[in-house]
Amino acid sequence: MTDGLVDLRSDTLTKPSAGMRAAMASAPVGDDVYDEDPTVHELEARVAALLGHEAGLFTVSGSLANQLGVALHVGPGQEVLCDCRAHIARAEMGAHGALHGVTMRTWVTNDGVADASQITNMLEPDAGPYLVSTACVAIENTHNFGGGTIQPLPGLQRVSRICRDLGVKRHLDGARLWNAHVATGVPLDAYGALFDTVSVCLSKGLGAPVGSVLVGTAAEMARARVLRKRLGGGWRQAGLLAAAGLYALDHNIGRLADDHAAAEAFADAVEARSPGSVKHPETNIVVLSTSGKKPARVVAEASERGVLVSALGPKMVRAVTHLDVTLDECARAGAVLGDIIRS
Ligand SMILES: Cc1ncc(COP(=O)(O)O)c(C=O)c1O
Repeated sequence: MTDGLVDLRSDTLTKPSAGMRAAMASAPVGDDVYDEDPTVHELEARVAALLGHEAGLFTVSGSLANQLGVALHVGPGQEVLCDCRAHIARAEMGAHGALHGVTMRTWVTNDGVADASQITNMLEPDAGPYLVSTACVAIENTHNFGGGTIQPLPGLQRVSRICRDLGVKRHLDGARLWNAHVATGVPLDAYGALFDTVSVCLSKGLGAPVGSVLVGTAAEMARARVLRKRLGGGWRQAGLLAAAGLYALDHNIGRLADDHAAAEAFADAVEARSPGSVKHPETNIVVLSTSGKKPARVVAEASERGVLVSALGPKMVRAVTHLDVTLDECARAGAVLGDIIRS
């Protein structure tokens, strides 16, 4: 970063690179509400193929892609099961209930990693007429508020198989599925095969300014297109933004390994100064326990020393690495946080 600040509040803060901006400027475009934008078509087909699904729908945000995915599967008054700190439960402003009549029941974890038995014990697909019926299970991979944790494949396979056998739909919030793929080597379509719908974000570690893609069957994406328009999410020459997404797919997936290395360097520097306050990161998110100090105070002191991080709950601080910070900057930032937590 140029002004001496190391901004680790989120991987959404990245600015489009010169190459990405050039790709946006030269993209062929059309009116996407008329379904006539060739660059949007290319992006949707490309992401669907990567995840092994039939069709895709480009959306303005991951929150919208999740809303559409869940609403495709869950009717008003039915339930989706998810983690108690899932993005769909905590950070989408109640949209699933407020706009789509979806109810939620949550399972509890420490680090967001789903426990297959816990989930399958909660499934109640035919609970009517006195109880709410489970229509969908939604899983987040990687898990943001859990600390960028990866869902192990065998657990996902088990949940997916049991849900499929019971007729319960499966949605994957894969905002950072790219990170899980790069960290584990599990192919994207191996994850994709386990879910009816998957949402992925282009605007997090991949560095695009805007956009997510929801994938599923062609019939589901046609329904999602109607829902998206109903929510005011139809857009016109969106190919300008889709071009940034295509550029991100071409240039920025493999390099996520650099972000994971930078997160490790950050965590190692914290651990060296304040042992026991940090968990080894699995991807690009590091969660620190602030011991006796209030997270808001840690955040304020770090900011005075040129490092921006976020408070996460009553005892935690979160740092997220991304393509606009270097490994050295992250190691220095980790040293600052380690000193503050120890002091
Ligand atoms: C796991 C997860 N899902 C979904 C989203 C939503 O993405 P957006 O901010 O584009 O709505 C986020 C955003 O941080 C996220 O972390």
